[in-house]
Amino acid sequence: MKAIVLEHFGSIDNLQFKELPVPQPQAGEILVKVGFAAVNPYDQKVIEVYGKEVGVQLPVIPGSELSGIVEATGEGVTGFQPGDAVCGNLGTFGGCYAEYAVVKATDIVKKPETVSFEAAAAIPVAALTASKAILEEGHLKAGEKILIHGASGAIGTMAVQLAKAAGAYVIATGSGTNEQRVKDLGADVFIDYTTQDFTGLAGEIDLVLDTVGGKTQEDSFSVLKQGGRLISLVQPPSKDKAAQHQVSAKMIFGGPNASRLEQILQQLAGGILKVTIEKVYVLSDAKAALQAIKTGHRTGKLLLNP
Ligand SMILES: NC(=O)c1ccc[n+]([C@@H]2O[C@H](COP(=O)([O-])OP(=O)(O)OC[C@H]3O[C@@H](n4cnc5c(N)ncnc54)[C@H](OP(=O)(O)O)[C@@H]3O)[C@@H](O)[C@H]2O)c1
Repeated sequence: MKAIVLEHFGSIDNLQFKELPVPQPQAGEILVKVGFAAVNPYDQKVIEVYGKEVGVQLPVIPGSELSGIVEATGEGVTGFQPGDAVCGNLGTFGGCYAEYAVVKATDIVKKPETVSFEAAAAIPVAALTASKAILEEGHLKAGEKILIHGASGAIGTMAVQLAKAAGAYVIATGSGTNEQRVKDLGADVFIDYTTQDFTGLAGEIDLVLDTVGGKTQEDSFSVLKQGGRLISLVQPPSKDKAAQHQVSAKMIFGGPNASRLEQILQQLAGGILKVTIEKVYVLSDAKAALQAIKTGHRTGKLLLNP
């Protein structure tokens, strides 16, 4: 099979397009013929920044989310048959940048017929992470005010829709070219971070979702109401600042969650959630897709099509 392989950390340029044997599923695993794999900012960061710190062993095939067709099942797998259309969030580097991937049966779910393979590959990481951040960890309630930084990105667009569906008042930051798209997804207020200072425009916030970090995260403490919450996906927040502002603040990580993914796919099938695909690259162009993700400015998800 054709696959993208990383043998040395440090640069996207180290990725190689190779011919490898098709892997075989062991007990509890499923072999999936990959339809689409999504490219995430985390993939680039693991390759170029985090390396071994996050427990990735080399050589490795990158990629954390996919859609595709079940090709074969390992011993003890129930509920899946060859030919089933599936998708899933496989966690850090589940080997999706390839024609075939072996996945844990517990990480994937069946794809509803009305959800395209493109959408099914594009949604697991962003929707599960956004959902965990704002609903499970952020405890967002109807009537509360949420400030979502990076609202035009993959996580942000999911967070806007989930927050709106939960009955919250949504204030979103992103660059101006994305204003209409984010408002169409449900944002009540859009703040263009390239021309406006959110600290003067968003006040008395119950929950901040930070997908940006740095000064954006630091400044966010000043808009939270007493007892408010800040959830970051990118950087551990300052404990001192949290205490000073009498708020709670933490960094969290997403990850696989099959039962929640099933609910999210139903929301996608029912039109409650929407996902935008910015571009589909052929597998051999994975480096170009990762270079594009590095710019940090998105109009939708980037996919690889093996
Ligand atoms: N902790 C976890 O488990 C976890 C999971 C997934 C992702 N992440 C991290 O979360 C971050 C976002 O991921 P993603 O997939 O949503 O990325 P993405 O699709 O590339 O989106 C990033 C967005 O951030 C916006 N942005 C950049 N600078 C900004 C600023 N100063 N203020 C407001 N918005 C700004 C950009 O908006 P414009 O294009 O409009 O400028 C872009 O749309 C990444 O760093 C990723 O590594 C963490």
